[in-house]
Amino acid sequence: MSDNTFSTISTIIKNRRTIKPFIMNGSKIPDEQITELLELADWAPTHGLTEPWRFTVYANPSQFCHAHAEMYKANTDDDGFAQGVYDNLAQQGDKASHVIIAVMQRGNLPKIPAFEEMAATACAVQNLLLGATALNLASYWGTGGMILKPAMKAFLNLRDEDEVMGVLYLGYADEQPKGIRGVPLELKVNWIK
Ligand SMILES: Cc1cc2nc3c(=O)[nH]c(=O)nc-3n(C[C@H](O)[C@H](O)[C@H](O)COP(=O)(O)O)c2cc1C
Repeated sequence: MSDNTFSTISTIIKNRRTIKPFIMNGSKIPDEQITELLELADWAPTHGLTEPWRFTVYANPSQFCHAHAEMYKANTDDDGFAQGVYDNLAQQGDKASHVIIAVMQRGNLPKIPAFEEMAATACAVQNLLLGATALNLASYWGTGGMILKPAMKAFLNLRDEDEVMGVLYLGYADEQPKGIRGVPLELKVNWIK
């Protein structure tokens, strides 16, 4: 690896920002680039080589978003239903290019705890997001709406032991939000020397 590899990856990591799909600009990402990002995801660390990450890719985000909104309607009683929430879910992907649902598919090695397979899948997601940043794409990892509800698991034909890790919206944006970290790193690290 060349001397500036650290500098390159450091820039990518620090420049990755959550960019909400509503501020994306509607431009489309070539499917080939999405495939390249999924190839990066596939190189996440994985205890026991269970490779638990699974992805469902929607090349047309509206298709997923309408299903998501309908899922909200079908699983909310009349008193709790809010048309604004429905519309928000239905329109969330209108300016995104692709939606990717990230799932942890539990392996069959009992010695590997579920949290490790969730951690591996989260690493796979981060690989994908960093690759997206390197390609100047906008990305958002969301778990709102029905994403973590049993109805979403049923929609995706998941088993009880599998987990939806979130929905990734990818696209392009004309602006980049500023990054914020409120807790100083010194308070998160305990150096023992
Ligand atoms: C597992 C996970 C789930 C998230 N779900 C949501 C969400 O539902 N809604 C949201 O606005 N942001 C969500 N985020 C994004 C965070 O809000 C975002 O990472 C945080 O504000 C820090 O900003 P940054 O990603 O630009 O550093 C999620 C992030 C992670 C890791």
